Amino acid sequence: MQEMILILDFGSQVTQLIGRRLREINVYCEIHAYNKIPEIGPNVKGVILSGSPFSVHDAQAPIVNLEGIKGKLPLLAICYGSQYIAQHYGGVVNSSLTREYGRAMLTVTDEKSPLFQKVSRKSQVWMSHGDTIAQLPKDAHVIASTEDVENAAYTIDGEATYAVQFHPEVFHTKEGTQMLLNFALKICGCKGDWTPDSFIESTIQSLQAKLNDDKVILGLSGGVDSTVAAVLLNKAIGKNLICIFVDNGLLRKNEFEEVLASYEEMGLNVVGVHAGPLFLSKLVGVTDPEAKRKAIGNTFIEVFDTEAQKISGARWLAQGTIYPDVIESVSVNGPSSKIKSHHNVGGLPEKMNLKIVEPLRALFKDEVRRVGRALGIKRELIGRHPFPGPSLGIRILGEVSEEKLRILRDADDIFIKGLRNWPCDLPSASYPNEMADNLYDSIWQAGTMLLPVKSVGVMGDERSYEYTIALRAVISTDGMTADWVHLPYEFLAKVSNDIINKVKGVNRVCYDISSKPPATIEWE
Ligand code: XMP
Repeated sequence: MQEMILILDFGSQVTQLIGRRLREINVYCEIHAYNKIPEIGPNVKGVILSGSPFSVHDAQAPIVNLEGIKGKLPLLAICYGSQYIAQHYGGVVNSSLTREYGRAMLTVTDEKSPLFQKVSRKSQVWMSHGDTIAQLPKDAHVIASTEDVENAAYTIDGEATYAVQFHPEVFHTKEGTQMLLNFALKICGCKGDWTPDSFIESTIQSLQAKLNDDKVILGLSGGVDSTVAAVLLNKAIGKNLICIFVDNGLLRKNEFEEVLASYEEMGLNVVGVHAGPLFLSKLVGVTDPEAKRKAIGNTFIEVFDTEAQKISGARWLAQGTIYPDVIESVSVNGPSSKIKSHHNVGGLPEKMNLKIVEPLRALFKDEVRRVGRALGIKRELIGRHPFPGPSLGIRILGEVSEEKLRILRDADDIFIKGLRNWPCDLPSASYPNEMADNLYDSIWQAGTMLLPVKSVGVMGDERSYEYTIALRAVISTDGMTADWVHLPYEFLAKVSNDIINKVKGVNRVCYDISSKPPATIEWE
């Protein structure tokens, strides 16, 4: 069984980062809500308690059952976790009126502590807490301090319990990854053998054992997750995987043909479905954004269902669900759980009596890419920007028509090709530790909108009255928040010129300089 570290979430905004840092050092971990602790098997090598927006003195402060954990397994308590241990095991925690927030210089006072091996005696850490530990729990001693916080890190003698008031998982704690590595490898004794290759090998084995000779259906979208899921399943069960790729008539210029060709090149058993006219017929006269989304979503289910019915004997529906979609997060307003679900084929599994298989359920997005790369999938496919299910349907504001689609596709093609051809010396958005090949690669998502606005211009000697195009390019990590990208003026000038000169029906190009929030990435 895969060895792992269990992370108990008290609702901190950065809990996922603890998980990502551990995965980066090839240690498998799972995040669970503090009040839903899974059964602890022998594969659990250690436990981490996260931070929290709560103070230990709040009436609703999370209380966790550490019986079977503290003193029995290695434990690392971070921020709220460290105050929690102090408060509940004989120490004293004081509330302070001011939050200690920001960088601080940590001095290691116990250089023998395994938590700080290979960590500089003085290093920068990131603090974010209101409470402070005035008195340590029973049998504990300090292992590191900052100028303002004496008990910045402590350990409990006679057990492998460590606690830090700062956040080792955030970027601003310069040597935080080394501390997490010390905890996982030295203190918990993990092997650190969770790599894309080991994931691929063990997943293929477990998929084969689970699926036997069953047929599996998978909806391909052209995106990274469904592509990686398909290639992995294809390696496991070959021709028993039947992929369905739907042309909804709202895709980018040549996208359907190009992506379908790449899928076939990879040896996937894929059925391409041309359903453009059906989708467009459902959009006639529809102008409200939500109504458009619903029309497109329902038509997708209808088309997918019809195609899937043609595949006799299918028992499973595969989905590209990834880890952030399934983590039960602890809400700041109380321990409720919210789970994002994939709506692309909503309702279908029940209707068709299919079981669900989700081979990427344990992976973060960057791990999906690493696995994709290890599977030999082309960088052009792995580095593709996210693209919404309703496609260009929600990038044409107002009613969709063939003519507007032509205009938007041509303008979008110029913008996206322009980004791909423009060199830059920025980090890659898909592989943060690598440099980008070009502007496209440095951006999280870019797209083009067609506004339902005509304005006056001059073309030669003639007055024109034509559409406006808006360009959007953002940097983000998960799409929840986003910043507009400071594209070079020379690049914007060239793209604007090219669009106005080459795309009939456009005489004005704008660049969207709004962040999310309060704007969103898509315009509808
Ligand atoms: P917004 O516009 O909400 O978008 O800032 C955030 C991210 O989600 C994508 N998006 C969608 N993806 N179905 C999808 O599969 C949808 O209906 C949908 N709406 C928005 C959007 O492209 C961005 O990456």
